[in-house]
Amino acid sequence: MRLIFLGAPGSGKGTQAVYLAERHGIPQISTGDILRKAVQDGSELGRKAQSIMQSGGLVPDDIIIELVRERLVQPDAGNGFILDGFPRTIAQAESLDAMLGEPKAIEMVLFFDVSEAEIVKRLTSRRTCSQCGKNYNVLSDPPPATGICDQCGGKIIQREDDTEVTVRKRLQVYEEKTAPLKSFYSAQNKLHLLHAEQAVEHVRSALDALVARL
Ligand code: AP5
Repeated sequence: MRLIFLGAPGSGKGTQAVYLAERHGIPQISTGDILRKAVQDGSELGRKAQSIMQSGGLVPDDIIIELVRERLVQPDAGNGFILDGFPRTIAQAESLDAMLGEPKAIEMVLFFDVSEAEIVKRLTSRRTCSQCGKNYNVLSDPPPATGICDQCGGKIIQREDDTEVTVRKRLQVYEEKTAPLKSFYSAQNKLHLLHAEQAVEHVRSALDALVARL
């Protein structure tokens, strides 16, 4: 199963990718998670990415493409994967096609459709474990009152790019650079729309029904 989860920031890609990856025993490959880990580790990649991520911009294509190329040759990606947050530009999508080649091509692209008002609400109320990355939401899935992650014991924080000003910048960048990927994958007959504004469980069922076609 080789899938892409496409959608605006906060559309629920990560929430559903964690579920589906576990269910099918394939990795969730989130470029955002890889970049945040690099920032935390203080690596060269992290130093290059940090200020761009904080401001809501996109990390340059060449850096991201190389990072994904290295990740996809890891043994756990041999039986399939979910790409969550990649590709985000036409150049990234074209490189991915070239990287995979026809026999291993992407089978399905799931587009998470959510309104802007709902996205702003979800992201400004999201809280995240600084250690394992587990997401909570003060409105729909509250974190423990202790502020400590129930999965790993890490400290729960608000991501620096989840303030309203940065969320609106991320949405603008999404419209400009990432939304054109809908036409790109529609032309390949791979795009499937998910009504992702419903409750988490309903989105999950719709997703299960779509991937059952593979
Ligand atoms: P990244 O981490 O990929 O951020 P994103 O795409 O903006 O996505 P998010 O993680 O914000 O949202 P999501 O869709 O996963 O939603 P979630 O499930 O968490 O990227 C961060 C940055 O890294 C980028 O801005 C960029 O700088 C850089 N970057 C990453 N990839 C890059 C690339 N390919 N190229 C260049 N730069 C790159 O849900 C959000 C909240 O809503 C949670 O609190 C959740 O609990 C809640 N929620 C989820 N589903 C529902 C539901 N159905 N109903 C109610 N609440 C829900």
